[in-house]
Amino acid sequence: MQFELTEEQKMVQQLAAEFAQKELPYEKVREWDANKVFPEEVVKKLGELGFMGVAIPPEYGGAGFDTISYVLAMIEIAKYDPGTAVIMSVNNSLVCDPLNKFGTEEQKKKYLTPLASGKILGCFALSEPEAGSDAAEQRTTAVKDGNYYVLNGVKNFITNGPQADVAIVFAMTDKSKRHHGISAFIVEADTPGFKITHVEDKMGIRTSGTAEITLEDVRVPAENMLGKEGEGFKVAMVTLDGGRIGIAAQAVGIAEGAFEEAIKFAQERVAFGQNIINFQAIQWMLADMHARIEAAKLLTLKAAYLKDKGVRHTKESAVAKMYASETAVWVTNRAVQIHGGYGYIKDYKVEQLYRDAKITEIYEGTNEIQRLVIANQLRKEYQI
Ligand code: CAA
Repeated sequence: MQFELTEEQKMVQQLAAEFAQKELPYEKVREWDANKVFPEEVVKKLGELGFMGVAIPPEYGGAGFDTISYVLAMIEIAKYDPGTAVIMSVNNSLVCDPLNKFGTEEQKKKYLTPLASGKILGCFALSEPEAGSDAAEQRTTAVKDGNYYVLNGVKNFITNGPQADVAIVFAMTDKSKRHHGISAFIVEADTPGFKITHVEDKMGIRTSGTAEITLEDVRVPAENMLGKEGEGFKVAMVTLDGGRIGIAAQAVGIAEGAFEEAIKFAQERVAFGQNIINFQAIQWMLADMHARIEAAKLLTLKAAYLKDKGVRHTKESAVAKMYASETAVWVTNRAVQIHGGYGYIKDYKVEQLYRDAKITEIYEGTNEIQRLVIANQLRKEYQI
């Protein structure tokens, strides 16, 4: 077993850390968080540095690094702004990755190259008002009409939806076959009938946009089907196996960010005549926080390592996402506690990190779904 990072991985980690320190100071992020501002310039710069397609081959516009590097970069960005981190995660994991895996050469040239180089932005439109956890219950339909498919339906909670140029949209091509009747499509957001019908006002990750998208007779060229007809559910599930690694990394970053803020505060805050870091109650909290962060990080890196090896990592991604997200919520809660009343006001970054942490237990599959995925894999392993 190898616990050392390669020189390349360390370089990516350092580049992301320096970028986040410079571009995402709390004064800026606080303002964006308050006003729901999408950090357009930062996203553009992330693209220029290769962070919008970290593990995509350079011939398709990516940086050509591995998933471990992607995880390390995500952690650094999420420490400073989890909203920016999810913009990056969706583009990398939920859009570029399936295009790289299932796309034709033409699709890769036309869509993956500008997406992975950050020239355009993507979103992943699976969830619907009646199909969240039960993703196979797709109501959106795609009906063949000559060389086109005509899409109708409503997608909701779509991260990057308000800003995306391209969406991976899932729709029923044959309802009688349930999940075997779902297909995936690459849809350009300026296609007539593709409408952003609502933008959410969220508790956290407020620098990322989340939209409801309504599709009204959206005509998509047949060559824009991603994967084969009826294979859309598999495309979605395989993609989410990768996506959950990105969310686990985001959660680790949130927890690390809150931990560092808690240490800083405890070193400065004086009570009962001394810095509160001297109290064992605080030290024990920090010890527990550190142990959980380490465990979450190792689980996330293990899932990334398996993905890089091309080994199925459904269970490991679900374990990492479940554990890291619960760690993020647990650690940010304690970080606020260490700050006392100061942790409850917006002058301190932990207030934002606490709000941002919650969504990691919900999106890309709730933690109840992660437990279901883990249990299903265990049933296979142990023939239960
Ligand atoms: N890899 C490959 N194939 C898989 C798979 C995987 N990880 N998981 C399932 N499959 C295949 C199965 O092998 C099976 O194939 P066959 O029928 O050909 O044998 C098929 O898919 C159906 O599998 P299940 O019977 O397990 O499917 P299910 O209907 O019971 O659902 C589920 C499984 C795990 C609950 C799934 O619906 C799921 O993951 N739900 C959560 C959806 C989710 O994460 N949504 C988030 C959307 S993205 C987002 O959050 C917004 C954003 O923008 C960030």
